[in-house]
Amino acid sequence: CGEAQDAVFFRSVVIVLLCCCCFFTDCAYMWRSIKLAIRITKYKKCKPFYSLLDHFLDGAKRHPDKVFVHFEGRQCTYEEVDKQSAKVARALQAEAKLQEGDVVAIFLPNNPSYMWTFLGLAKLGCPAALLNTNIRSKSLLHCFSCCGAKVLITSPELLSAVEEVLPTLKEQDISVFILADSCSVPGIHPLSGKIKKASDEPLSKELRANVTIRSTALYIYTSGTTGLPKAAVVTHERVWAACLFQAAVGVTTDDIFYINLPLYHSAGFLIGMAGSIERGNTMVLKKKFSASQFWDDCRKYNVTVMQYIGETLRYLCNSPKKDTDKQHKVRLAMGNGVRTDIWTEFLNRFGDIQMRELYGATEGNIGFINYTNKIGAVGRINPLHKFFFPHTLIKFDVEKEEPIRNSEGLCVKAARGEIGLLVGKVTKRSPFVGYAANKTQTEKKRLRDVMKKGDLYFNTGDLMLIDSENFVYFMDRVGDTFRWKGENVATSEVGDILTTANSILEANVYGVKVEGHEGRIGMAAVTLKEGEDFDCADAYKQVVNYLPAYARPRFIRIQPCLEVTGTFKMKKVKLVEEGFNPANISDPLYFLDTDKKTYVPLTEKIYNAIMSREIKL
Ligand SMILES: *[C@@H]1O[C@H](CO)[C@@H](O)[C@H](O)[C@H]1NC(C)=O
Ligand SMILES: *[C@@H]1O[C@H](CO)[C@@H](O)[C@H](O)[C@H]1NC(C)=O
Ligand SMILES: *[C@@H]1O[C@H](CO)[C@@H](O)[C@H](O)[C@H]1NC(C)=O
Ligand SMILES: *[C@@H]1O[C@H](CO)[C@@H](O)[C@H](O)[C@H]1NC(C)=O
Ligand SMILES: *[C@@H]1O[C@H](CO)[C@@H](O)[C@H](O)[C@H]1NC(C)=O
Repeated sequence: CGEAQDAVFFRSVVIVLLCCCCFFTDCAYMWRSIKLAIRITKYKKCKPFYSLLDHFLDGAKRHPDKVFVHFEGRQCTYEEVDKQSAKVARALQAEAKLQEGDVVAIFLPNNPSYMWTFLGLAKLGCPAALLNTNIRSKSLLHCFSCCGAKVLITSPELLSAVEEVLPTLKEQDISVFILADSCSVPGIHPLSGKIKKASDEPLSKELRANVTIRSTALYIYTSGTTGLPKAAVVTHERVWAACLFQAAVGVTTDDIFYINLPLYHSAGFLIGMAGSIERGNTMVLKKKFSASQFWDDCRKYNVTVMQYIGETLRYLCNSPKKDTDKQHKVRLAMGNGVRTDIWTEFLNRFGDIQMRELYGATEGNIGFINYTNKIGAVGRINPLHKFFFPHTLIKFDVEKEEPIRNSEGLCVKAARGEIGLLVGKVTKRSPFVGYAANKTQTEKKRLRDVMKKGDLYFNTGDLMLIDSENFVYFMDRVGDTFRWKGENVATSEVGDILTTANSILEANVYGVKVEGHEGRIGMAAVTLKEGEDFDCADAYKQVVNYLPAYARPRFIRIQPCLEVTGTFKMKKVKLVEEGFNPANISDPLYFLDTDKKTYVPLTEKIYNAIMSREIKL
């Protein structure tokens, strides 16, 4: 593989870069990036295509007895995982008649079987759709069908969620399999027995002969700016790019990598698991993040690299202090969303751990890595980065929620040090593939006529700032999504559910900051139907039935009417600023009380209990 032309191209890039390198970390980092870029280019040219699965199989040959994953006291070696995935592939081939290109939805909690099911599907050339285990009913059906899956694989823990939608799945002729020896629900087929009996012989490469670097490898769901979750199409090229993050920040084959994030998100799946497969290191997988078990796990398994999101670092800092806090081998932490204060506290308490902040969206065409010593920055722009990921910050009107355009209809570059919307130019090298089965949604993330008439950019929906030294800071998201407990929530999806409640006419959903918490918690300003009172019990029922816990509006503000902008978008900025303190707001406020299982009037007493954290959010 590889071509002379590319070598010349990269050599010239290297020379240019070495000339304009400003300090050592830039050079070291860029050198590593160049090596990785050369590797990806090689993979692109390889015939037949060399996928992450092929890389895993090579690893399994090289170090069959190395531990692939530790999970709840059990461990599996590379060889065992290889064999197990072959069995899964054969069982599915026989039972579901799977063929190359058939999409299979995985609806499983974090578990080693998640990993070998994915690898088994890859052996058949089948893309996997990674369903969020928190979603239910309407959302679940939508996620399932929008990627065109014909097969669903689940586990006993999630049986009730599947049962709820089973009649519709049956109507659509979907095969549902459960990773269990038996299942009493008609229409759900137990698979474990079949897997046990299947042969563990390697599967022919012919089965996946048509897979190329541009084929879909995965569907990963992102909470959209519009309505229901969207299935981002993740091609094999994108898988390679994302799993090289571990390599880019210096994780090695000898590291032990701790995955405590859900595997249905790209952080856990691509950066965590796929990255570890790429490095050929050992993973420690956790069913769910647990602050109280975190350091014990790290000690028990000799973890050297951990993954985080802002919330998890905060939970770790909030846990009771122990003498053993600094006793562990963790040397590197990678993730995103750490705040300066938490970061400092984390290091003081848990010792000298290098932090690597990453920025990137599953479907986006731009990413940043913090590889320098700047607290608070998500990354730094260097010439190489600009070359591979052309991008711009443009001025954004927060009130109207749209980019500001000049008299020629073009966007306006934000000045240095000014907050702007990050947009990534769509090029061959940084493509934007879009979402499954929904052109409207894909189109919504495209921005045209940005710097020139006819150009095309990907709209990240993130407001950022680049300072005079080229450091990049994440500031906020634009108003149509908010982030709570590590999950992104689309405000319009929540709004759609709220308006199904009997008493609610319109809803304007947004996120509000609560001191001592990462992200923003859901809140909604609503108007009521004429002559009706707010029906607390009914609103609670709708919200709890249709929304995962992190997406539920914990605060409701009843307004006589909702303010809209000139373009009929609902105004949020002022509402966000006003928050939920009953002392400052004359509108009636309600609080979702999880003990009483209804909305209750938000009193000063409740407000104070929230602020003093007697009431946990
Ligand atoms: C690969 O594509 C060719 C041509 O489109 C087709 O005939 C063949 O059946 C495909 N192979 C598999 C395994 O799907
Ligand atoms: C695509 O998304 C738009 C906006 O959310 C929605 O109105 C439309 O129904 C969706 N179409 C399909 C086919 O899912
Ligand atoms: C962790 O390291 C110690 C000392 O190097 C070793 O004795 C122990 O077996 C290791 N634990 C695991 C789970 O590998
Ligand atoms: C960026 O990386 C440097 C070097 O490892 C680290 O000291 C700094 O805290 C990081 N910043 C963040 C926000 O992680
Ligand atoms: C809200 O009220 C509290 C107490 O009455 C006051 O301290 C605070 O400044 C007010 N906040 C706003 C945004 O008006």
